[in-house]
Amino acid sequence: MNTLQQIRFIWKPVVFLVCLLPLLLIIGDAFGVTGSLGANQIEAILDRFGNWALRFIMIALMVTPLRRLTDWNWLSRFRRMLGLFTFFYAFMHFLTWLVLDQELRLSEILEDLIERPFITLGFIAMVLLTALAVTSFMAIRRRMGKRWQLLHNMTYVIGILGVWHYWWQVKKDITEPLIYAGILFVLLTARVIWYWNRRSLRAAA
Ligand code: HEM
Repeated sequence: MNTLQQIRFIWKPVVFLVCLLPLLLIIGDAFGVTGSLGANQIEAILDRFGNWALRFIMIALMVTPLRRLTDWNWLSRFRRMLGLFTFFYAFMHFLTWLVLDQELRLSEILEDLIERPFITLGFIAMVLLTALAVTSFMAIRRRMGKRWQLLHNMTYVIGILGVWHYWWQVKKDITEPLIYAGILFVLLTARVIWYWNRRSLRAAA
């Protein structure tokens, strides 16, 4: 088996199963098999899916810098899967809010979306994530040409909106959103530095 086949038939299925573990743990805890969700089950499910969406977007954003630092080009083969898992966990978070928390009451949903800015931010991030997930297929990517990369640069905007959404609703301890903001800052700075280096190299050539 060559490296590409190993990635396709061994490592991709392994990474896929690992990415499903948070979901399995949430389901296990909900049914009291692997643990428990505590007193407020709906809030616990909502928070866990939200946290995993944010973790996955950070991991997906780490792929390119890590690939550049290590020259492990095979890493980019996992980017789409990680992006789609970000969408999946964010969508589960959104569905939990819509169905379990708001019980599909349209007037309250609209009120929350308009009057609670952190929910408005989360919603914008969700819309952008949906656009990225829908356009993640190779056929669409080819058809979109250069516009595809422009759209997919939105991943950074989604990361910022996600951290902001989290930060805004935290009541006291801002440690966790601060950690996410720090990671995002490092990743964004690395991107900007690489971009400028490439530009000056091109200009010199
Ligand atoms: C329509 C979209 C969204 C809605 C309606 C929404 C709504 C909510 C609500 C109601 C909470 C709980 C607030 C509380 O516990 O008082 C929450 C928390 C959170 N959301 Fe969202 N959200 C959305 C999208 C997103 C997205 C796209 C991300 C990540 C990329 C995200 C990440 C988080 C995180 C990390 C938390 C905090 C969890 C914690 O307290 O541990 N959300 N969201």
